[in-house]
Amino acid sequence: MGEPILQVHGVSKFFGGLTALDDVDFEVSCGEVVALLGDNGAGKSTLIKCISGVYRPERGQIIFDGHVITGHTPMEIRGLGIETIYQDLALAENLDVGANVFLGKEKKRRWLGLFPITDDEFMRRESEQALDKLDIHIPSLRQKLVNLSGGQRQAVAIARAIYWNAKLIIMDEPTAALGVPEQRKVLDLIRTLRQQQIPVILISHTMQDVMDVADRMVVMRRGRVVANVPRREATVDLLVKYIIGAEEMA
Ligand SMILES: Nc1ncnc2c1ncn2[C@@H]1O[C@H](COP(=O)(O)OP(=O)(O)OP(=O)(O)O)[C@@H](O)[C@H]1O
Ligand SMILES: [Mg+2]
Repeated sequence: MGEPILQVHGVSKFFGGLTALDDVDFEVSCGEVVALLGDNGAGKSTLIKCISGVYRPERGQIIFDGHVITGHTPMEIRGLGIETIYQDLALAENLDVGANVFLGKEKKRRWLGLFPITDDEFMRRESEQALDKLDIHIPSLRQKLVNLSGGQRQAVAIARAIYWNAKLIIMDEPTAALGVPEQRKVLDLIRTLRQQQIPVILISHTMQDVMDVADRMVVMRRGRVVANVPRREATVDLLVKYIIGAEEMA
């Protein structure tokens, strides 16, 4: 395993009187798939939102790829190479696949050498190559996102992350709303990312998914990290005990 590319040191986040994150330490190394586990309300989404810049922690420091990113904006953090795929995906339903891969970074050309217009053909061609690389086939890239299945949308979100050379991909419950074949596809994509040395943080309540793809499991409970378990030591039974608080940290 490589050097840590992400280091979270002593991060705390409060919402009014509620402590959502309590002195959290967390690391991810290159080429590693880390599962983030915990019961509802444990603080998983809050932690990744602190990493992706949606929330600013009250205490602690986050370092990514040599940069202190604590308090940076989501745009700045995306610019450094962290792509977060939220459950609601933040894709544009009424645009086609190409436009979604380029969302916020549209390619323009000049019509008649004068007026800037978006270069849809270029964006579709590039998107097709990105999807091919991931072995994903979408019948027509002219399809609007609303007409794609949940799994195809996940794939578009992942293709976008790859196209823009993400150095870390965070997925919050990527398979929760998917059918079985689509879930497998997303898990295959996570394995492809690992082969390409791109680290992934995977939040999932599905133990089987976690056991299938994760190299390491970090369990949160009531805003604290309560376990950090390498895959070879993990069993569903042990993880569940940590999640429900029946096992103290070894
Ligand atoms: N914007 C917010 N304002 C106030 N409280 C919040 C906010 N976001 C989260 N919380 C609270 O912080 C705690 C952690 O929530 P978080 O969403 O991080 O949990 P989670 O581990 O992602 O849970 P789930 O598995 O249900 O998605 C919860 O008690 C939640 O109610
Ligand atoms: Mg959550």
